[in-house]
Amino acid sequence: MSYDTSFPQIDFVPATAEDYEEVMSISGGIYNGTDYLPFRYHDWLKDPQRRMFLAKCEGKVVGFESFIVVDDGATAVVEGLRVAPWMRGCGVAGLIEKFCLDTLHSDHPEVKRIRMTRAENPPASVMKKYKLINSKAVIPLLLPSDQLETALNLLESRVNNLDRSKNISVLGPEEVLRFFEESKTREELLPGGLLVQAWLPLTTHNSNLNLLMKRRIVWIYSHPGDSRDLASSSRIITSDDTNSCGSTHTYIDGFLSLGTPPYPVPVAEGVHELEIDMFGNDPSCVKVHVLQQLKIGVQALPAGSSMICVLYADESLRNELGQLCEGLTPFHIVKEQMILEMEV
Ligand SMILES: CC(C)(COP(=O)(O)OP(=O)(O)OC[C@H]1O[C@@H](n2cnc3c(N)ncnc32)[C@H](O)[C@@H]1OP(=O)(O)O)[C@@H](O)C(=O)NCCC(=O)NCCS
Repeated sequence: MSYDTSFPQIDFVPATAEDYEEVMSISGGIYNGTDYLPFRYHDWLKDPQRRMFLAKCEGKVVGFESFIVVDDGATAVVEGLRVAPWMRGCGVAGLIEKFCLDTLHSDHPEVKRIRMTRAENPPASVMKKYKLINSKAVIPLLLPSDQLETALNLLESRVNNLDRSKNISVLGPEEVLRFFEESKTREELLPGGLLVQAWLPLTTHNSNLNLLMKRRIVWIYSHPGDSRDLASSSRIITSDDTNSCGSTHTYIDGFLSLGTPPYPVPVAEGVHELEIDMFGNDPSCVKVHVLQQLKIGVQALPAGSSMICVLYADESLRNELGQLCEGLTPFHIVKEQMILEMEV
């Protein structure tokens, strides 16, 4: 399919494995060198739920976009949008979006909703079309290979006895399934009912479980009301409490974190990214979850690798996480993750 514009004709074709190098050639510097597409491109091609498209101008790749049909066919999540640097600012992204919407309309008429995640300050035209479902704090850190142990020790020293009273369990596949089925916990923990894993926002519809299972995620869960010291924790869990700033805060029962296996990113040879998505707003849980996910992530890191660790958490935990990570090197990618939806 092609669209006429004021500049030469843009054609849209399915992306293939052979297009990998050309897609990467228009992707330099995206997300400050932490672009996930180089690592995911070939896996995405194998996914029957996903479609990937190229925009071409005079035979050259000038844009990329993909969508994945999730939530048992009700939703398409668009991911990976990019336009070649020399073609930016002249409307190509809008044409790609129109092509994706037209394709969804004709090939997937059952899709009723488009969903996407964006960093802070998306263009006003995007905010006119999409509704904001939720936004989260994003805290990216650079952990050079020779400082990993020191960083872990520093975090360990900042986790106090009260934090340690929170029980945490690494969930196996059956327990993840149970989490999907526990509707009350799920609804309380997941804003908008969405579980966002490495920028992919999904409902907990059972059909999404397979997709998540294939990603080799580390699931860590603090069960509601489950604490080694129930006498003290009963004050903290599901209670109105006064935090250190004197304001009243209601903590949600339970806490969930999802850690990616560390994956290579283009910023420099040997650098791997670990993304930790967290759900819940308990300030003690967030500390023990970050520490545990990092320990597991560091163990999985190839020898000699440095790590970019990206924390995603409820906005109310931004200060807590800032204090926990004080002294570690921030790495600028983005500050906020927004989840957006549009009915079609
Ligand atoms: C963001 C990017 C794709 C915009 O491409 P572009 O062709 O220069 O976009 P334009 O400024 O010409 O905008 C054209 C249309 O695309 C839309 N658009 C622009 N940026 C967008 C974004 N981040 N997400 C969704 N739509 C976007 C605009 O709203 C506009 O829509 P309209 O025609 O309805 O007004 C491009 O700058 C890029 O590749 N950046 C690096 C990768 C990146 O940041 N991707 C976005 C997050 S996935």
